[in-house]
Amino acid sequence: MSNSVLTGIRCNAVPHIGNYLGAFKPMADNLKGLPVDKKFFMFIPDLHSFTTPIDHTQLYPNTIYNLQSYIAAGVDPSRENTILYRQSRVPAHSELMWILSCFSYMGELKKMTQFKEKSEKSESVSSGLFIYPVLMAADILLYNIEYIPVGDDQKQHLELARDVAIRMNNRFSEVIGKDLFVVPKPWTEQLANMEVDEGIRIRSLKNPEAKMSKSILDPSGTISLQDDPKAAAKKIMSATTDSIGIINWDWKEQPGITNLLQLAYLLENKSKDEIVKVWQGQTRYGDLKKHVAGLVEGFLVNLQNKIQATNQNEVEKILANGEIKANLIANETLQRVQKGIGLRN
Ligand code: ADP
Ligand code: TRP
Repeated sequence: MSNSVLTGIRCNAVPHIGNYLGAFKPMADNLKGLPVDKKFFMFIPDLHSFTTPIDHTQLYPNTIYNLQSYIAAGVDPSRENTILYRQSRVPAHSELMWILSCFSYMGELKKMTQFKEKSEKSESVSSGLFIYPVLMAADILLYNIEYIPVGDDQKQHLELARDVAIRMNNRFSEVIGKDLFVVPKPWTEQLANMEVDEGIRIRSLKNPEAKMSKSILDPSGTISLQDDPKAAAKKIMSATTDSIGIINWDWKEQPGITNLLQLAYLLENKSKDEIVKVWQGQTRYGDLKKHVAGLVEGFLVNLQNKIQATNQNEVEKILANGEIKANLIANETLQRVQKGIGLRN
């Protein structure tokens, strides 16, 4: 059994501060607590990145930038058991996806909230968007993974990976005398492993009811990691707030202000309570904005320097190295599955 960790973030667009604080940073921190003998699979789901239309000239640069962001967030590529790779360079992902798609049901996939939401917004919906969770199940099952740190929007996708693994184990394990797949842990255990009680959701600066998203065109509400730091500070200064006039942590009545408080505590590396204690009851929204604008500017200057320090050639070498290791592990699983279902004897 394995308690290795695996995760990935799509490279459909340049990541924003929400992706960084809600995903890149917690995952890099999670890795720091992982014993040295445990493997950490950090891959870039590049095949998952064009299920909805994107600018394909940016796909490759975004792939490299994605990995640079991980390194800047604290992932150490020289750690022996950290394996960094691109999904598209490990053909077993696509192959296992096909096999899993024949053991997962249309009814299951139709229930996926993310598919429902994204397909409602678009006129022509790709079949890739529909089958997205099956590819994600292959990403996980190939590497015998129990723990997958992801945001709560991915809960249903993880459950599908679990269901398909259990279903295929029940049907085929007897054939090869062992389980086909390691079954990922249920959601409650995933949450305990991530040590989160409240998921981080950075909201749009313009429309704080909605999350900041790289899939939605909202440049003044979004702080891209590639924004000019001064321009980003200006976006904070013009963030939408409310007319209540007193600072409170209250997502329902004051989402704009609460979003700023959330950014403050994450960027200052403090607890939510510490920050709330400092600002609660104050009346000058401008002071809070100025404070957060300064934090965001400093954060971007620092991050962009770190990203510049890892050049593209180095990143490509790291990936090529990781892809050799990833292919070995993935092919072993694929062959086991091929044997189980009768494609090999
Ligand atoms: P987006 O909605 O920006 O396209 P993705 O769906 O590709 O982002 O998500 C990538 C990762 O970033 C996921 O783990 C997701 O939970 C996290 N994430 C996305 N948006 C936010 C946000 N606004 N705040 C915190 N985390 C976020
Ligand atoms: N679906 C994830 C997202 O949108 C990205 C992803 C693809 C992933 N395959 C994965 C995450 C496997 C964890 C494990 O953010």
